Amino acid sequence: MFAMPIVDAQEARQQAQAVLPRLIFDYIDGAAGQEHSERENREALAQIKLRPRILQDVRQRDLSTQIFGQDYDLPFGIAPMGMCNLAWPGTDGMLARLGAKQNVPVGVSTVASSSLEYMWEHSQGRAWFQLYFSGNGSGTLRLAQRAQAAGYETLILTVDVPEVGRRPRDLKQGFKMPFRIGPRTFVDFALHPQWSLTTLFRGSPSLGNFTPRDAENGHVFNREESRAGADWDWFKRLRELWQGKLVVKGVLDAQDALDLVKAGADAIQVSSHGGRQLNSAILPVRALPRIRQAVGPDFPVFFDSGARGGEDVAKLLALGADFVFFGRPLQFAAAAGQERGLNQYWDSLVQDLSITMAQLGKRSVAELNAADLEAQQAV
Ligand code: FNR
Repeated sequence: MFAMPIVDAQEARQQAQAVLPRLIFDYIDGAAGQEHSERENREALAQIKLRPRILQDVRQRDLSTQIFGQDYDLPFGIAPMGMCNLAWPGTDGMLARLGAKQNVPVGVSTVASSSLEYMWEHSQGRAWFQLYFSGNGSGTLRLAQRAQAAGYETLILTVDVPEVGRRPRDLKQGFKMPFRIGPRTFVDFALHPQWSLTTLFRGSPSLGNFTPRDAENGHVFNREESRAGADWDWFKRLRELWQGKLVVKGVLDAQDALDLVKAGADAIQVSSHGGRQLNSAILPVRALPRIRQAVGPDFPVFFDSGARGGEDVAKLLALGADFVFFGRPLQFAAAAGQERGLNQYWDSLVQDLSITMAQLGKRSVAELNAADLEAQQAV
């Protein structure tokens, strides 16, 4: 079937919407409450203006960067997302291969649809494991040890889910993890046969880190179990146990950021979970410069939430981020065009960032700074 090339995030989303059952599209696309936080953050990002500079001989442009002393080819990577194989069977594998090919970090969720060992192997060591606290935290520590044994060197602790946010689109349609085809969703699935037949044929995705065999080894995960018990004491225990780099994801408050620096975090990821947790949360785009100011120029600060194109990456780096992660558009690109679609979207990001740097008169991403923003936005 002839399909338009995926030239940007909007095209990926539109094509995915046509292919995916509504239940699945809404699970990926949706956000908390009235979805203000998700929308306004993207709008705030769009309103930030860049300052083009001229006559700088920008024929050579270097998009590479370093994190934790390691070279990466691009200043952006793949955010950890649960159950990606719902977007299309095999999406986790596609993301892992993309990370290996592009030499960028691949976030692997606690609730990924493939095991952390599979993702480590297929990303050729580019995977970072994302940890959710749950229950009394002892199972969580065991999972971190399992990631360490598999070879992982970087752990992302996500701290903005003390409870799973209320997402009305999921609640209305009865989205459950692991999901089931019920009478209410039958018509929805029947109307999207390409996705439904492929998923039926390849098997409905499950939680890759929590198979019956994992349960025998003490690894169980209950999405309904409260994650509310995490506190600073538990964080200290994790810090003592985890010998690699520790990134804390879901920080919007400058004081929290400072406390994390003191408690031994190696990086902070400014994020609103893509607006999926708190509808009225401070917009991450606004929190970023404040957090950068609080922690100083040298502490690693990463960002996700609402980035859609290469221009967004340039803006976020200019606002103080060292690295940017993409979420939803990657799943949409995979749903719309599988590996080909994902590569097309990824290439659009690389080209967009490279062309943006040319416009700004920059030869390397390290040169991007607050002076590239319109004066009143510079911090
Ligand atoms: C997520 N995100 C997420 N984060 C995390 O730490 N663990 C997880 O399991 C998940 N799962 C997940 C599922 C889906 C379907 C989405 C869309 C997102 C959040 C993700 O890492 C990231 O913070 C946001 O997706 C970034 O926002 P954008 O790029 O989607 O706007």
